[in-house]
Amino acid sequence: MAEPRSSSRRMLMAFFAFFFAFFYTGSSTAQVPVVLWSSEGLPALAPPAAGHIVSTDQLTAYLTSAFGSGPRTVLLFLQDKLSKDDFTVFGGVFGNKQDSAFQNLEAALQSSSSSVTLPAFEWSGSSAIPALLQEELGVSPLLVDPDTLSHLSINSSASNLLLFNLPYCTSVHKSCKEVLHDNDEVIGKVLTIMKAKKIPYTAVYTGSQPSRVISETSMSNQPAGRSLLQAVVPDVKAPIMFNGTGGPCIMLWAQNLSISLSSTAAWIDLAAETPTMTGSMCNSTNSLLVLNYASGYVLSFNMIQRFYSVSARNWFTLESVQLQSNGVTASFSGRRAIYAPAEYSYHCQTVSSIGDALLVQNSTNVNASQWRLNFVDFQIQGFSLANGTNFSYASDCAGFFTAGIWMGLLTSLLMLLIFVYGLHMIMQLNTMDRFDDPKGPSISVPQSE
Ligand SMILES: *[C@@H]1O[C@H](CO)[C@@H](O)[C@H](O)[C@H]1NC(C)=O
Ligand SMILES: *[C@@H]1O[C@H](CO)[C@@H](O)[C@H](O)[C@H]1NC(C)=O
Ligand SMILES: *[C@@H]1O[C@H](CO)[C@@H](O)[C@H](O)[C@H]1NC(C)=O
Ligand SMILES: *[C@@H]1O[C@H](CO)[C@@H](O)[C@H](O)[C@H]1NC(C)=O
Ligand SMILES: *[C@@H]1O[C@H](CO)[C@@H](O)[C@H](O)[C@H]1NC(C)=O
Ligand SMILES: *[C@@H]1O[C@H](CO)[C@@H](O)[C@H](O)[C@H]1NC(C)=O
Ligand SMILES: *[C@@H]1O[C@H](CO)[C@@H](O)[C@H](O)[C@H]1NC(C)=O
Ligand SMILES: *[C@@H]1O[C@H](CO)[C@@H](O)[C@H](O)[C@H]1NC(C)=O
Repeated sequence: MAEPRSSSRRMLMAFFAFFFAFFYTGSSTAQVPVVLWSSEGLPALAPPAAGHIVSTDQLTAYLTSAFGSGPRTVLLFLQDKLSKDDFTVFGGVFGNKQDSAFQNLEAALQSSSSSVTLPAFEWSGSSAIPALLQEELGVSPLLVDPDTLSHLSINSSASNLLLFNLPYCTSVHKSCKEVLHDNDEVIGKVLTIMKAKKIPYTAVYTGSQPSRVISETSMSNQPAGRSLLQAVVPDVKAPIMFNGTGGPCIMLWAQNLSISLSSTAAWIDLAAETPTMTGSMCNSTNSLLVLNYASGYVLSFNMIQRFYSVSARNWFTLESVQLQSNGVTASFSGRRAIYAPAEYSYHCQTVSSIGDALLVQNSTNVNASQWRLNFVDFQIQGFSLANGTNFSYASDCAGFFTAGIWMGLLTSLLMLLIFVYGLHMIMQLNTMDRFDDPKGPSISVPQSE
Protein backbone atom coordinates (compact mmCIF):
# COMPACT_ATOMS: atom_id res chain seq x y z
CA MET A 1 0.00 0.00 0.00
CA ALA A 2 2.96 2.26 0.54
CA GLU A 3 3.92 1.60 -3.06
CA PRO A 4 2.16 4.48 -4.83
CA ARG A 5 3.36 6.94 -2.26
CA SER A 6 7.02 5.96 -2.48
CA SER A 7 6.90 6.00 -6.24
CA SER A 8 5.52 9.48 -6.13
CA ARG A 9 8.33 10.41 -3.76
CA ARG A 10 10.76 8.98 -6.26
CA MET A 11 9.12 11.08 -8.94
CA LEU A 12 9.45 14.11 -6.76
CA MET A 13 13.14 13.43 -6.22
CA ALA A 14 13.66 12.88 -9.91
CA PHE A 15 11.93 16.15 -10.52
CA PHE A 16 14.19 17.94 -8.10
CA ALA A 17 17.22 16.34 -9.69
CA PHE A 18 16.01 17.59 -13.03
CA PHE A 19 15.22 20.96 -11.56
CA PHE A 20 18.71 21.42 -10.18
CA ALA A 21 20.37 19.94 -13.23
CA PHE A 22 18.48 22.52 -15.23
CA PHE A 23 19.90 25.30 -13.14
CA TYR A 24 23.32 23.74 -13.05
CA THR A 25 23.58 23.65 -16.82
CA GLY A 26 22.03 27.09 -16.83
CA SER A 27 25.16 28.32 -15.10
CA SER A 28 27.47 26.57 -17.55
CA THR A 29 27.80 29.78 -19.55
CA ALA A 30 30.40 30.47 -16.85
CA GLN A 31 33.83 31.29 -18.22
CA VAL A 32 37.42 31.01 -17.19
CA PRO A 33 40.30 32.92 -18.74
CA VAL A 34 43.02 30.92 -20.50
CA VAL A 35 46.50 32.34 -20.96
CA LEU A 36 48.92 30.54 -23.27
CA TRP A 37 52.52 31.28 -24.06
CA SER A 38 55.43 29.35 -25.43
CA SER A 39 59.20 29.39 -25.52
CA GLU A 40 59.03 28.55 -29.20
CA GLY A 41 56.17 30.62 -30.57
CA LEU A 42 52.50 30.05 -31.11
CA PRO A 43 50.41 30.62 -34.19
CA ALA A 44 48.62 33.95 -34.11
CA LEU A 45 45.02 34.01 -32.99
CA ALA A 46 42.83 36.95 -33.93
CA PRO A 47 41.96 38.70 -30.67
CA PRO A 48 38.46 37.62 -29.73
CA ALA A 49 35.86 40.37 -29.94
CA ALA A 50 35.03 41.92 -26.57
CA GLY A 51 32.57 39.75 -24.73
CA HIS A 52 33.02 36.81 -27.10
CA ILE A 53 33.12 33.48 -25.31
CA VAL A 54 35.56 31.04 -26.87
CA SER A 55 34.03 27.60 -27.22
CA THR A 56 35.71 24.26 -26.55
CA ASP A 57 35.69 23.51 -30.27
CA GLN A 58 37.46 26.77 -31.06
CA LEU A 59 40.13 26.12 -28.44
CA THR A 60 40.58 22.53 -29.65
CA ALA A 61 41.03 23.73 -33.21
CA TYR A 62 43.55 26.32 -32.08
CA LEU A 63 45.55 23.85 -29.99
CA THR A 64 45.62 21.36 -32.84
CA SER A 65 47.25 23.96 -35.05
CA ALA A 66 49.53 25.18 -32.25
CA PHE A 67 50.85 21.77 -31.25
CA GLY A 68 51.35 20.48 -34.76
CA SER A 69 52.62 16.95 -35.07
CA GLY A 70 55.93 17.06 -33.21
CA PRO A 71 56.38 16.29 -29.52
CA ARG A 72 55.50 19.08 -27.12
CA THR A 73 56.08 19.69 -23.45
CA VAL A 74 53.09 21.48 -21.99
CA LEU A 75 53.07 23.04 -18.54
CA LEU A 76 49.54 23.36 -17.24
CA PHE A 77 49.21 25.76 -14.32
CA LEU A 78 45.77 24.90 -13.07
CA GLN A 79 44.54 27.16 -10.35
CA ASP A 80 41.54 26.04 -8.31
CA LYS A 81 39.62 29.06 -9.45
CA LEU A 82 40.29 31.97 -11.75
CA SER A 83 38.33 34.78 -13.35
CA LYS A 84 39.12 37.67 -15.57
CA ASP A 85 38.29 39.87 -12.59
CA ASP A 86 41.30 38.47 -10.73
CA PHE A 87 43.51 40.13 -13.31
CA THR A 88 41.50 43.31 -12.96
CA VAL A 89 41.61 43.49 -9.19
CA PHE A 90 45.04 42.04 -8.48
CA GLY A 91 46.82 43.00 -11.67
CA GLY A 92 48.32 46.16 -10.25
CA VAL A 93 48.00 49.70 -11.35
CA PHE A 94 48.39 50.70 -14.95
CA GLY A 95 52.08 51.27 -15.51
CA ASN A 96 52.93 50.21 -11.98
CA LYS A 97 54.08 46.64 -12.42
CA GLN A 98 55.51 46.41 -8.91
CA ASP A 99 52.00 46.33 -7.55
CA SER A 100 50.82 43.39 -9.65
CA ALA A 101 50.26 39.92 -8.23
CA PHE A 102 51.14 38.52 -11.65
CA GLN A 103 54.64 39.87 -12.21
CA ASN A 104 56.22 36.62 -13.37
CA LEU A 105 53.28 35.84 -15.60
CA GLU A 106 53.41 39.29 -17.15
CA ALA A 107 57.17 39.00 -17.64
CA ALA A 108 56.75 35.58 -19.26
CA LEU A 109 54.08 36.88 -21.62
CA GLN A 110 56.26 39.79 -22.57
CA SER A 111 59.43 37.81 -23.14
CA SER A 112 57.70 35.02 -25.00
CA SER A 113 57.77 35.50 -28.74
CA SER A 114 54.01 35.05 -28.83
CA SER A 115 51.25 34.64 -26.35
CA VAL A 116 47.50 34.29 -26.45
CA THR A 117 45.06 35.45 -23.80
CA LEU A 118 41.49 34.29 -23.98
CA PRO A 119 39.61 36.39 -21.40
CA ALA A 120 36.55 34.15 -21.63
CA PHE A 121 36.68 30.45 -22.40
CA GLU A 122 33.42 28.58 -22.05
CA TRP A 123 33.73 26.59 -18.82
CA SER A 124 32.22 23.14 -19.02
CA GLY A 125 33.67 21.37 -16.00
CA SER A 126 36.74 21.30 -13.83
CA SER A 127 38.55 18.68 -15.90
CA ALA A 128 37.68 20.12 -19.29
CA ILE A 129 41.03 21.75 -20.02
CA PRO A 130 43.27 18.90 -18.72
CA ALA A 131 41.16 16.46 -20.74
CA LEU A 132 41.43 18.63 -23.82
CA LEU A 133 45.22 18.86 -23.52
CA GLN A 134 45.50 15.16 -22.81
CA GLU A 135 43.61 14.42 -25.99
CA GLU A 136 45.66 16.86 -28.05
CA LEU A 137 49.00 15.52 -26.80
CA GLY A 138 48.07 11.87 -26.45
CA VAL A 139 49.65 11.61 -22.97
CA SER A 140 48.23 11.58 -19.47
CA PRO A 141 48.90 14.55 -17.25
CA LEU A 142 51.71 14.11 -14.76
CA LEU A 143 51.10 15.93 -11.49
CA VAL A 144 54.34 17.66 -10.57
CA ASP A 145 55.45 19.28 -7.36
CA PRO A 146 57.37 22.42 -8.34
CA ASP A 147 59.98 21.65 -5.66
CA THR A 148 60.93 18.35 -7.25
CA LEU A 149 60.73 19.52 -10.84
CA SER A 150 64.46 20.16 -11.04
CA HIS A 151 65.12 16.47 -10.29
CA LEU A 152 62.62 15.25 -12.83
CA SER A 153 64.07 13.95 -16.07
CA ILE A 154 61.95 15.05 -18.94
CA ASN A 155 62.28 13.32 -22.29
CA SER A 156 61.77 16.16 -24.72
CA SER A 157 61.60 13.87 -27.71
CA ALA A 158 58.22 12.69 -26.46
CA SER A 159 55.14 14.75 -25.55
CA ASN A 160 54.71 15.62 -21.88
CA LEU A 161 51.87 17.18 -19.97
CA LEU A 162 53.07 18.49 -16.62
CA LEU A 163 50.31 19.59 -14.29
CA PHE A 164 50.89 22.10 -11.50
CA ASN A 165 47.98 22.59 -9.16
CA LEU A 166 47.74 26.03 -7.65
CA PRO A 167 45.41 27.07 -4.81
CA TYR A 168 42.96 29.94 -4.85
CA CYS A 169 42.01 32.23 -1.99
CA THR A 170 40.82 29.81 0.67
CA SER A 171 43.50 30.31 3.26
CA VAL A 172 42.32 32.44 6.15
CA HIS A 173 45.88 33.44 6.89
CA LYS A 174 46.59 35.03 3.55
CA SER A 175 44.88 37.64 1.46
CA CYS A 176 43.78 36.71 -2.02
CA LYS A 177 46.51 38.84 -3.46
CA GLU A 178 49.16 37.00 -1.48
CA VAL A 179 47.86 33.64 -2.65
CA LEU A 180 47.92 34.77 -6.27
CA HIS A 181 51.34 36.28 -5.75
CA ASP A 182 52.65 32.98 -4.35
CA ASN A 183 51.18 31.15 -7.32
CA ASP A 184 52.93 33.60 -9.58
CA GLU A 185 56.20 32.82 -7.80
CA VAL A 186 55.62 29.12 -8.53
CA ILE A 187 55.11 29.92 -12.19
CA GLY A 188 58.31 31.96 -12.22
CA LYS A 189 60.25 29.16 -10.53
CA VAL A 190 58.99 26.48 -12.92
CA LEU A 191 59.82 28.60 -15.95
CA THR A 192 63.32 29.22 -14.62
CA ILE A 193 63.88 25.48 -14.18
CA MET A 194 62.58 24.75 -17.66
CA LYS A 195 64.91 27.38 -19.07
CA ALA A 196 67.86 25.86 -17.15
CA LYS A 197 66.96 22.43 -18.49
CA LYS A 198 66.79 23.93 -22.01
CA ILE A 199 63.52 22.20 -22.69
CA PRO A 200 61.17 24.04 -25.04
CA TYR A 201 57.70 24.33 -23.56
CA THR A 202 54.23 25.68 -24.04
CA ALA A 203 52.57 26.94 -20.87
CA VAL A 204 48.90 27.31 -20.06
CA TYR A 205 47.56 29.21 -17.08
CA THR A 206 43.89 28.78 -16.31
CA GLY A 207 41.39 27.86 -13.61
CA SER A 208 39.59 24.63 -12.76
CA GLN A 209 36.51 26.74 -12.37
CA PRO A 210 35.51 30.39 -12.41
CA SER A 211 36.15 32.41 -9.29
CA ARG A 212 34.16 35.28 -8.03
CA VAL A 213 36.30 38.06 -6.78
CA ILE A 214 35.64 38.89 -3.19
CA SER A 215 35.79 42.63 -3.01
CA GLU A 216 38.89 43.35 -1.00
CA THR A 217 39.65 46.61 0.69
CA SER A 218 42.05 47.40 -2.12
CA MET A 219 39.79 48.97 -4.67
CA SER A 220 39.51 47.63 -8.14
CA ASN A 221 41.35 49.62 -10.72
CA GLN A 222 40.00 49.07 -14.18
CA PRO A 223 42.87 50.15 -16.39
CA ALA A 224 45.25 48.13 -14.25
CA GLY A 225 43.62 44.82 -14.95
CA ARG A 226 43.60 45.58 -18.58
CA SER A 227 47.38 45.63 -18.53
CA LEU A 228 47.64 41.85 -18.54
CA LEU A 229 45.01 41.46 -21.22
CA GLN A 230 46.84 44.19 -23.07
CA ALA A 231 49.13 41.53 -24.45
CA VAL A 232 46.40 40.70 -26.96
CA VAL A 233 44.19 43.78 -26.90
CA PRO A 234 46.64 46.43 -28.03
CA ASP A 235 44.49 49.58 -27.93
CA VAL A 236 44.13 50.11 -24.18
CA LYS A 237 43.58 53.76 -23.53
CA ALA A 238 44.32 55.56 -20.31
CA PRO A 239 41.21 56.92 -18.64
CA ILE A 240 40.21 60.54 -19.16
CA MET A 241 40.93 62.35 -15.93
CA PHE A 242 39.98 65.87 -14.88
CA ASN A 243 41.94 67.50 -12.07
CA GLY A 244 40.06 69.99 -9.95
CA THR A 245 41.63 72.36 -7.46
CA GLY A 246 42.11 69.60 -4.88
CA GLY A 247 43.46 66.91 -7.19
CA PRO A 248 41.82 64.47 -9.62
CA CYS A 249 38.03 64.60 -9.35
CA ILE A 250 36.46 63.04 -12.45
CA MET A 251 37.46 59.90 -14.31
CA LEU A 252 35.93 58.38 -17.38
CA TRP A 253 36.86 55.33 -19.42
CA ALA A 254 35.10 53.89 -22.42
CA GLN A 255 36.04 51.49 -25.15
CA ASN A 256 33.84 53.44 -27.57
CA LEU A 257 32.13 56.80 -27.27
CA SER A 258 30.15 56.59 -30.46
CA ILE A 259 27.85 59.32 -31.69
CA SER A 260 25.70 59.71 -34.76
CA LEU A 261 23.86 62.80 -35.95
CA SER A 262 21.09 61.03 -37.84
CA SER A 263 19.44 57.65 -37.78
CA THR A 264 21.19 56.72 -41.02
CA ALA A 265 24.59 58.39 -40.54
CA ALA A 266 27.59 56.27 -39.65
CA TRP A 267 28.80 56.13 -36.07
CA ILE A 268 31.74 58.35 -35.12
CA ASP A 269 33.91 57.02 -32.29
CA LEU A 270 35.09 59.95 -30.19
CA ALA A 271 37.09 57.66 -27.89
CA ALA A 272 39.72 57.53 -30.62
CA GLU A 273 40.47 61.25 -30.12
CA THR A 274 42.05 63.02 -27.17
CA PRO A 275 39.85 65.88 -25.96
CA THR A 276 40.60 69.01 -23.97
CA MET A 277 38.57 69.52 -20.81
CA THR A 278 37.97 73.28 -20.85
CA GLY A 279 34.75 74.09 -19.02
CA SER A 280 34.87 71.10 -16.67
CA MET A 281 34.36 71.71 -12.98
CA CYS A 282 33.80 69.82 -9.79
CA ASN A 283 32.87 70.53 -6.21
CA SER A 284 31.44 68.39 -3.44
CA THR A 285 27.95 68.15 -5.01
CA ASN A 286 28.36 68.75 -8.75
CA SER A 287 30.75 67.36 -11.32
CA LEU A 288 30.75 68.46 -14.91
CA LEU A 289 33.10 66.88 -17.42
CA VAL A 290 33.24 68.74 -20.73
CA LEU A 291 35.13 66.99 -23.50
CA ASN A 292 36.01 69.30 -26.40
CA TYR A 293 37.07 67.39 -29.48
CA ALA A 294 39.17 68.79 -32.29
CA SER A 295 36.55 67.47 -34.73
CA GLY A 296 34.12 70.09 -33.35
CA TYR A 297 31.98 67.93 -31.10
CA VAL A 298 31.53 68.74 -27.43
CA LEU A 299 30.39 65.93 -25.18
CA SER A 300 29.57 66.76 -21.57
CA PHE A 301 28.66 64.64 -18.57
CA ASN A 302 26.84 66.26 -15.69
CA MET A 303 26.81 64.41 -12.38
CA ILE A 304 25.14 65.33 -9.10
CA GLN A 305 25.61 63.80 -5.69
CA ARG A 306 22.70 63.78 -3.25
CA PHE A 307 21.84 62.26 0.07
CA TYR A 308 18.94 59.83 -0.07
CA SER A 309 17.39 59.31 3.32
CA VAL A 310 15.68 56.06 2.24
CA SER A 311 19.01 54.30 1.85
CA ALA A 312 20.78 56.64 4.26
CA ARG A 313 23.64 57.23 1.89
CA ASN A 314 24.88 59.49 -0.85
CA TRP A 315 24.29 58.46 -4.43
CA PHE A 316 25.45 60.11 -7.58
CA THR A 317 23.43 60.24 -10.74
CA LEU A 318 24.53 60.96 -14.26
CA GLU A 319 21.94 63.70 -14.64
CA SER A 320 22.54 64.40 -18.28
CA VAL A 321 24.84 63.85 -21.21
CA GLN A 322 24.95 66.64 -23.74
CA LEU A 323 26.25 66.54 -27.26
CA GLN A 324 26.96 69.75 -29.05
CA SER A 325 27.77 70.20 -32.71
CA ASN A 326 27.62 73.35 -34.87
CA GLY A 327 25.79 75.28 -32.18
CA VAL A 328 23.02 72.69 -31.78
CA THR A 329 22.79 70.85 -28.46
CA ALA A 330 21.06 67.58 -27.70
CA SER A 331 20.48 66.62 -24.09
CA PHE A 332 20.00 63.06 -22.86
CA SER A 333 18.87 62.29 -19.35
CA GLY A 334 20.41 59.44 -17.38
CA ARG A 335 18.82 60.36 -14.08
CA ARG A 336 16.36 57.48 -14.15
CA ALA A 337 18.86 54.69 -14.78
CA ILE A 338 22.47 55.74 -14.27
CA TYR A 339 23.35 56.03 -10.62
CA ALA A 340 25.69 54.47 -8.07
CA PRO A 341 26.66 54.96 -4.44
CA ALA A 342 28.73 58.15 -4.30
CA GLU A 343 31.86 56.37 -3.16
CA TYR A 344 31.74 53.97 -6.12
CA SER A 345 32.20 54.30 -9.83
CA TYR A 346 29.50 53.36 -12.30
CA HIS A 347 30.15 50.77 -14.98
CA CYS A 348 27.99 49.49 -17.79
CA GLN A 349 28.81 47.42 -20.85
CA THR A 350 26.50 49.53 -23.00
CA VAL A 351 25.13 52.97 -22.28
CA SER A 352 23.03 54.01 -25.19
CA SER A 353 20.20 56.27 -26.32
CA ILE A 354 18.84 53.59 -28.64
CA GLY A 355 17.20 50.25 -27.99
CA ASP A 356 17.16 49.42 -24.30
CA ALA A 357 18.00 53.05 -23.57
CA LEU A 358 19.63 54.20 -20.36
CA LEU A 359 19.93 57.68 -21.84
CA VAL A 360 16.61 59.29 -22.71
CA GLN A 361 16.40 62.01 -25.36
CA ASN A 362 15.04 65.29 -24.07
CA SER A 363 11.91 66.23 -26.01
CA THR A 364 13.16 69.80 -26.30
CA ASN A 365 15.87 68.67 -28.75
CA VAL A 366 13.84 69.69 -31.79
CA ASN A 367 16.77 70.13 -34.14
CA ALA A 368 18.62 67.12 -32.82
CA SER A 369 15.93 64.51 -32.37
CA GLN A 370 17.80 62.07 -34.62
CA TRP A 371 21.02 62.21 -32.66
CA ARG A 372 22.17 59.00 -31.05
CA LEU A 373 24.78 58.02 -28.49
CA ASN A 374 26.28 54.60 -27.90
CA PHE A 375 28.99 54.12 -25.27
CA VAL A 376 30.63 50.72 -24.97
CA ASP A 377 32.29 49.40 -21.78
CA PHE A 378 31.65 52.69 -20.08
CA GLN A 379 32.90 53.65 -16.61
CA ILE A 380 32.56 56.98 -14.89
CA GLN A 381 33.24 58.41 -11.46
CA GLY A 382 32.67 62.02 -10.49
CA PHE A 383 33.07 61.90 -6.72
CA SER A 384 35.19 60.32 -4.01
CA LEU A 385 38.32 59.91 -6.09
CA ALA A 386 40.22 60.89 -2.93
CA ASN A 387 43.29 62.11 -4.81
CA GLY A 388 43.64 58.67 -6.36
CA THR A 389 44.23 57.88 -9.96
CA ASN A 390 42.20 54.67 -9.83
CA PHE A 391 38.52 54.05 -10.19
CA SER A 392 36.79 52.94 -7.02
CA TYR A 393 34.93 49.67 -6.94
CA ALA A 394 32.38 49.66 -9.75
CA SER A 395 28.66 49.46 -9.33
CA ASP A 396 27.66 47.56 -12.45
CA CYS A 397 24.44 48.15 -14.32
CA ALA A 398 23.97 44.43 -14.94
CA GLY A 399 22.37 42.94 -11.88
CA PHE A 400 23.06 39.37 -10.94
CA PHE A 401 19.53 38.36 -11.84
CA THR A 402 19.07 39.34 -15.45
CA ALA A 403 15.67 39.32 -17.08
CA GLY A 404 16.44 35.92 -18.63
CA ILE A 405 17.29 34.34 -15.30
CA TRP A 406 14.14 35.75 -13.75
CA MET A 407 12.02 34.37 -16.56
CA GLY A 408 13.58 30.93 -16.22
CA LEU A 409 13.22 31.01 -12.47
CA LEU A 410 9.57 32.04 -12.52
CA THR A 411 8.65 29.54 -15.23
CA SER A 412 10.32 26.74 -13.27
CA LEU A 413 8.60 27.76 -10.05
CA LEU A 414 5.27 27.75 -11.82
CA MET A 415 5.97 24.26 -13.17
CA LEU A 416 6.99 23.13 -9.70
CA LEU A 417 3.80 24.54 -8.24
CA ILE A 418 1.64 22.73 -10.79
CA PHE A 419 3.57 19.54 -10.20
CA VAL A 420 3.26 19.73 -6.43
CA TYR A 421 -0.44 20.43 -6.78
CA GLY A 422 -0.83 17.36 -9.02
CA LEU A 423 1.17 15.26 -6.58
CA HIS A 424 -1.01 16.45 -3.75
CA MET A 425 -4.09 15.30 -5.68
CA ILE A 426 -2.55 11.88 -6.37
CA MET A 427 -1.68 11.40 -2.71
CA GLN A 428 -5.22 12.28 -1.71
CA LEU A 429 -6.57 9.69 -4.13
CA ASN A 430 -4.31 7.15 -2.51
CA THR A 431 -6.05 7.36 0.85
CA MET A 432 -9.21 6.11 -0.84
CA ASP A 433 -7.65 2.58 -1.05
CA ARG A 434 -9.13 1.84 2.34
CA PHE A 435 -12.57 1.57 0.82
CA ASP A 436 -11.39 -1.35 -1.31
CA ASP A 437 -9.64 -3.18 1.52
CA PRO A 438 -12.18 -5.29 3.44
CA LYS A 439 -9.58 -6.31 6.07
CA GLY A 440 -8.42 -2.78 6.83
CA PRO A 441 -9.92 -0.75 9.63
CA SER A 442 -13.26 0.71 8.76
CA ILE A 443 -13.53 4.39 8.24
CA SER A 444 -15.11 6.23 11.08
CA VAL A 445 -17.12 9.20 10.12
CA PRO A 446 -17.34 11.67 12.94
CA GLN A 447 -20.90 12.41 13.86
CA SER A 448 -21.72 16.03 13.77
CA GLU A 449 -24.16 16.76 16.49
C1 LIG B 1 62.44 9.44 -25.24
O1 LIG B 1 61.24 9.20 -25.97
C2 LIG B 1 61.46 8.60 -27.24
C3 LIG B 1 60.13 8.54 -27.95
O2 LIG B 1 59.11 8.01 -27.15
C4 LIG B 1 62.07 7.22 -27.04
O3 LIG B 1 62.34 6.64 -28.30
C5 LIG B 1 63.37 7.37 -26.25
O4 LIG B 1 63.89 6.12 -25.96
C6 LIG B 1 63.13 8.13 -24.95
N1 LIG B 1 64.40 8.39 -24.29
C7 LIG B 1 64.60 8.13 -23.01
C8 LIG B 1 65.94 8.47 -22.47
O5 LIG B 1 63.72 7.65 -22.30
C1 LIG C 1 46.06 65.05 -12.72
O1 LIG C 1 46.57 64.54 -11.50
C2 LIG C 1 47.23 63.31 -11.64
C3 LIG C 1 47.63 62.81 -10.27
O2 LIG C 1 47.80 63.84 -9.38
C4 LIG C 1 48.45 63.49 -12.55
O3 LIG C 1 49.10 62.24 -12.72
C5 LIG C 1 47.97 64.01 -13.90
O4 LIG C 1 49.08 64.29 -14.72
C6 LIG C 1 47.15 65.27 -13.73
N1 LIG C 1 46.60 65.64 -15.03
C7 LIG C 1 46.57 66.88 -15.50
C8 LIG C 1 45.95 67.08 -16.83
O5 LIG C 1 47.03 67.81 -14.84
C1 LIG D 1 34.22 50.90 -31.64
O1 LIG D 1 34.48 51.87 -32.64
C2 LIG D 1 35.25 51.37 -33.72
C3 LIG D 1 35.47 52.49 -34.69
O2 LIG D 1 36.27 53.49 -34.11
C4 LIG D 1 34.51 50.23 -34.40
O3 LIG D 1 35.31 49.68 -35.41
C5 LIG D 1 34.20 49.16 -33.38
O4 LIG D 1 33.41 48.16 -33.99
C6 LIG D 1 33.45 49.75 -32.23
N1 LIG D 1 33.27 48.72 -31.22
C7 LIG D 1 32.09 48.42 -30.70
C8 LIG D 1 32.08 47.33 -29.69
O5 LIG D 1 31.09 49.01 -31.03
C1 LIG E 1 28.85 73.28 -6.86
O1 LIG E 1 28.72 73.81 -8.18
C2 LIG E 1 27.37 74.06 -8.59
C3 LIG E 1 27.37 74.49 -10.04
O2 LIG E 1 28.32 75.45 -10.28
C4 LIG E 1 26.73 75.10 -7.66
O3 LIG E 1 25.39 75.32 -8.06
C5 LIG E 1 26.79 74.58 -6.24
O4 LIG E 1 26.30 75.57 -5.35
C6 LIG E 1 28.22 74.22 -5.85
N1 LIG E 1 28.20 73.56 -4.54
C7 LIG E 1 29.09 73.81 -3.60
C8 LIG E 1 28.92 73.07 -2.32
O5 LIG E 1 29.97 74.62 -3.76
C1 LIG F 1 15.35 69.10 -21.23
O1 LIG F 1 16.26 70.16 -21.51
C2 LIG F 1 15.90 71.40 -20.90
C3 LIG F 1 16.88 72.45 -21.38
O2 LIG F 1 18.17 71.95 -21.50
C4 LIG F 1 15.91 71.24 -19.37
O3 LIG F 1 15.52 72.44 -18.74
C5 LIG F 1 14.92 70.12 -19.00
O4 LIG F 1 14.98 69.87 -17.62
C6 LIG F 1 15.26 68.86 -19.74
N1 LIG F 1 14.26 67.85 -19.49
C7 LIG F 1 14.55 66.64 -19.04
C8 LIG F 1 13.43 65.69 -18.85
O5 LIG F 1 15.72 66.29 -18.84
C1 LIG G 1 16.09 74.68 -35.36
O1 LIG G 1 16.56 74.97 -36.65
C2 LIG G 1 15.85 76.01 -37.27
C3 LIG G 1 16.37 76.16 -38.70
O2 LIG G 1 17.75 75.92 -38.77
C4 LIG G 1 16.03 77.33 -36.47
O3 LIG G 1 15.28 78.36 -37.07
C5 LIG G 1 15.52 77.07 -35.05
O4 LIG G 1 15.74 78.23 -34.25
C6 LIG G 1 16.20 75.89 -34.44
N1 LIG G 1 15.60 75.60 -33.17
C7 LIG G 1 16.29 75.45 -32.04
C8 LIG G 1 15.52 75.16 -30.80
O5 LIG G 1 17.51 75.51 -32.04
C1 LIG H 1 44.45 66.01 -2.44
O1 LIG H 1 45.78 66.48 -2.38
C2 LIG H 1 45.88 67.88 -2.22
C3 LIG H 1 47.34 68.27 -2.29
O2 LIG H 1 48.17 67.22 -2.03
C4 LIG H 1 45.23 68.29 -0.89
O3 LIG H 1 45.30 69.69 -0.75
C5 LIG H 1 43.77 67.86 -0.90
O4 LIG H 1 43.18 68.12 0.33
C6 LIG H 1 43.66 66.36 -1.18
N1 LIG H 1 42.26 66.03 -1.35
C7 LIG H 1 41.69 64.97 -0.79
C8 LIG H 1 40.25 64.76 -1.07
O5 LIG H 1 42.33 64.18 -0.10
C1 LIG I 1 45.70 53.62 -6.60
O1 LIG I 1 46.74 52.68 -6.77
C2 LIG I 1 47.95 53.02 -6.06
C3 LIG I 1 49.01 52.01 -6.40
O2 LIG I 1 48.60 50.74 -6.03
C4 LIG I 1 47.68 53.06 -4.57
O3 LIG I 1 48.85 53.43 -3.89
C5 LIG I 1 46.60 54.08 -4.31
O4 LIG I 1 46.25 54.06 -2.96
C6 LIG I 1 45.36 53.75 -5.13
N1 LIG I 1 44.39 54.80 -4.97
C7 LIG I 1 43.13 54.54 -4.59
C8 LIG I 1 42.24 55.71 -4.47
O5 LIG I 1 42.73 53.41 -4.36
